[in-house]
Amino acid sequence: MRVHVADHPLIAHKLTYLRDRRTDTPTFRRLADELVTLLAYEATREVRVRPFEIETPVAPTTGIHLASPKPLVVPILRAGLGMLDGMMRMVPTAEVGFVGMVRNEETLEAHTYANRLPDDLEARQCYVLDPMLATGGTLSAAVRFLVDRGADDITAITLLSAPEGIERLQADLSDVDAPVTVVTGAIDERLNDQGYIVPGLGDAGDRLYGVI
Ligand code: URA
Repeated sequence: MRVHVADHPLIAHKLTYLRDRRTDTPTFRRLADELVTLLAYEATREVRVRPFEIETPVAPTTGIHLASPKPLVVPILRAGLGMLDGMMRMVPTAEVGFVGMVRNEETLEAHTYANRLPDDLEARQCYVLDPMLATGGTLSAAVRFLVDRGADDITAITLLSAPEGIERLQADLSDVDAPVTVVTGAIDERLNDQGYIVPGLGDAGDRLYGVI
């Protein structure tokens, strides 16, 4: 598994506002959206393309279009929804599938409560959106879900990650043949006893949707 920390001053600047407890929900949502477009730029560096012939006003030339099957963007409900618009702005012709996962606050394990995905993900590049890679349970289950359906290249985009979550993903997915990449805005210090990332930004879903 590859891990790419998108180390850029604009990303760090936006993350600082997201982390700040004084940032209100509308501002948080807007900044998360902007941050995802920057992360999407890094995450789609290897998106598959095919040659495409066009004519400019001056001469014929060969450009590129996205290859088929189109990339599949999978926000993990609920907090991943806050990343969907930013991602789709960068890849508007991608398709979208949904996975609903919630973690049990006692065991911290992920449980799937909904899914709306194509049955066959053969040869699909998938981009999984989840703002917080904390224990890694949710992302590990989501990646496994996609690989079991045939996805052959998976990139998880997270705003923040914990070292514990990255270690768990690496261990859980060591038997997965498909390439898996994590693109994240930062790797923080650790998880606390409640499974929150420290220093983190709190509960991403609550901060996006204002339920505190
Ligand atoms: N989920 C969140 O929303 N925040 C954390 O810090 C960890 C998991």
